[in-house]
Amino acid sequence: MVSSLILVASLFACASAKRHWQMRRAEMVLHQYVTNIPPGFVDDGPANPESVLDLRIALVQNNKNGIIEALNNITTLGHPSYGQHLSRNETAQFLAPSPETVAAVDAWLQNAGLNATATTSIGDWLQLNTTVGKANDLLAANFSLFTNTETGQQSIRTLNYSIPINLVGHVDFVHPTTAFPIATSPQGTAAIMARAPNRNGFDANGCSADIVTPRCVQMLHGVPAATVQVGQPPARGVSIAVAGMNEQWANREDLATFLAYYRRDIVASHAQTFDFVTVKGGVNTQTLALAGDEADLNIQYTVGIAAGVPTTFYSIGTPDVPYGSSHEDLVNWFIDEDPNSLPGVLTVSYAGPERVFPQPLAERLCTAYATLGARGMSVIYASGDDGVGRVDPQTNQCPEGKFVPFFPASCPYVTAVGSTSITAAGQQRGAQFSGGGFSDLFSNNQLDWQLPAVQSYLRGLYPQYNNGVFKTTGRAYPDVSTIGSNVAYDWRGTSRKGTGPSASAPIFASMIGLINVARAEAGKGPLGWLNRFLYENPGAFVDIQQGSNPGCNTPGFPALPGWDPVTGLGTPNFNALKAAAVARP
Ligand SMILES: *[C@@H]1O[C@H](CO)[C@@H](O)[C@H](O)[C@H]1NC(C)=O
Ligand SMILES: *[C@@H]1O[C@H](CO)[C@@H](O)[C@H](O)[C@H]1NC(C)=O
Ligand SMILES: *[C@@H]1O[C@H](CO)[C@@H](O)[C@H](O)[C@H]1NC(C)=O
Ligand SMILES: *[C@@H]1O[C@H](CO)[C@@H](O)[C@H](O)[C@H]1NC(C)=O
Ligand SMILES: *[C@@H]1O[C@H](CO)[C@@H](O)[C@H](O)[C@H]1NC(C)=O
Ligand SMILES: *[C@@H]1O[C@H](CO)[C@@H](O)[C@H](O)[C@H]1NC(C)=O
Repeated sequence: MVSSLILVASLFACASAKRHWQMRRAEMVLHQYVTNIPPGFVDDGPANPESVLDLRIALVQNNKNGIIEALNNITTLGHPSYGQHLSRNETAQFLAPSPETVAAVDAWLQNAGLNATATTSIGDWLQLNTTVGKANDLLAANFSLFTNTETGQQSIRTLNYSIPINLVGHVDFVHPTTAFPIATSPQGTAAIMARAPNRNGFDANGCSADIVTPRCVQMLHGVPAATVQVGQPPARGVSIAVAGMNEQWANREDLATFLAYYRRDIVASHAQTFDFVTVKGGVNTQTLALAGDEADLNIQYTVGIAAGVPTTFYSIGTPDVPYGSSHEDLVNWFIDEDPNSLPGVLTVSYAGPERVFPQPLAERLCTAYATLGARGMSVIYASGDDGVGRVDPQTNQCPEGKFVPFFPASCPYVTAVGSTSITAAGQQRGAQFSGGGFSDLFSNNQLDWQLPAVQSYLRGLYPQYNNGVFKTTGRAYPDVSTIGSNVAYDWRGTSRKGTGPSASAPIFASMIGLINVARAEAGKGPLGWLNRFLYENPGAFVDIQQGSNPGCNTPGFPALPGWDPVTGLGTPNFNALKAAAVARP
């Protein structure tokens, strides 16, 4: 095996092995590596060479910066391309690998007797079923069995891998390889549950520190109760997509119970439900006892807020290991979707700390979100529910003493939604769990739409943090917030309350869904990527100036006048936001 040859050569440097080693070195170059086994894992020795590996190969896209440039053009008022969303084929010219890349990678795999399948129509991702033994040869790797000491879960990973020198510039990355499934669970931005054994304790119109209902969302944010009428078929972009991951299933019976109690008005006029689409084998099992808390919350606060807007639940079958795989399959699904059936809004309440995502995958995903924005889709992610970061229970500190940015919220091409809660005095304040901060991965130096608001915040920031606790030059989030504390919903036949931006993302997505209906009525297309528009209209938000998001043994960030990393621009004033959106070309 290649990898053992390298080792033998470096240890003994005997003449023949050394020659072989130099030859190998000349053709293989180290592509990705980690120097040590990440904390929390033990090495259980080399993986069985016959074990099957499902490898994904990301090919270099021929012009990934072009898509960002196109997105900026399309969303900049007055630009000749303003509002001209790209077609699937127009995005392909940026995202497809070049013919040279395709040829080089094909030759490499064919030479190794391997058979890969493109998982996207433009061929920028390949999937390959192979064995550990063959993968070790192909990548000069040493795939081993690593056990997560906390969960006992075993994963096959390698500390490093190489690619032939002629493939540098053609292969972006291969995974799963060096990214370890770290114990931190990105299982939703998990709602904090308060058990509620019966309906009696829940006021159907409740709106207080203790309970938030759809009626409360309408009152706080000015969302109309009326059920909207959409054309048949609905105009382009008049629909909401809700993502389901981690075997979270959205239950129709729970939705019906929820609507019957909290939205009698729409139940009377319309049988409200949602459609279902399977992505990569995802299912939506309807056994009540298997309903997902996150999925139920997400579907109830879309169907139950954006009354009348067609809503579809997309269940992704791919396990999110390494982190990002389900997000990857989700975006690839929409990138290949027909332009006329591409939903106008996508809301996702699953996320994790940036560091658990393989960096090249996170970058790739961020390009994909920009692509969807350029196609006319508003991609909305919950901002995370650990404030500036949750301490590691073992060390009682945040890793490396730094704040913990959340991805995908930290990608500038999603709209990150944080949360507010209601004070005893009945006012909104930044919720202490509201995830927010500054990306370590994505820089803000090109983000002309965000930079002035963020710099203004940083100038007014007190307390000051030591240099390096967060990266002042990182993309800052959240962009906006909505109420997200003690949100009433139904799960497995019981009433519950959920807390977290998991509730806020669907609420904000619903508002954008309703606004897209108003734009369609005015003969205009869906909004697509929102951030430039949002930051140009701070007056459409209620500026939240109370609250903070503590974490990592610090007070976190305070909510201050203007944008802040707890509540973003603030909570929407629906009518003002709608007016600004409908006035926009
Ligand atoms: C491969 O990893 C195993 C541990 O999993 C180690 O014992 C072995 O020395 C490694 N081989 C090489 C060539 O580095
Ligand atoms: C963006 O617009 C500029 C002109 O303002 C143009 O030169 C450039 O080609 C456009 N880029 C893309 C990718 O459309
Ligand atoms: C899009 O590209 C595909 C593949 O290159 C081609 O078959 C198809 O005709 C194109 N569609 C349009 C609308 O240009
Ligand atoms: C490669 O895969 C395709 C589709 O899965 C199959 O039709 C073909 O026979 C395979 N070729 C080899 C050499 O295994
Ligand atoms: C890999 O194997 C899975 C099942 O284990 C199968 O569904 C998939 O089609 C295979 N992919 C390729 C590229 O052969
Ligand atoms: C790659 O990992 C192996 C252990 O599997 C190690 O022996 C080797 O030194 C590493 N090589 C580099 C260049 O990091």
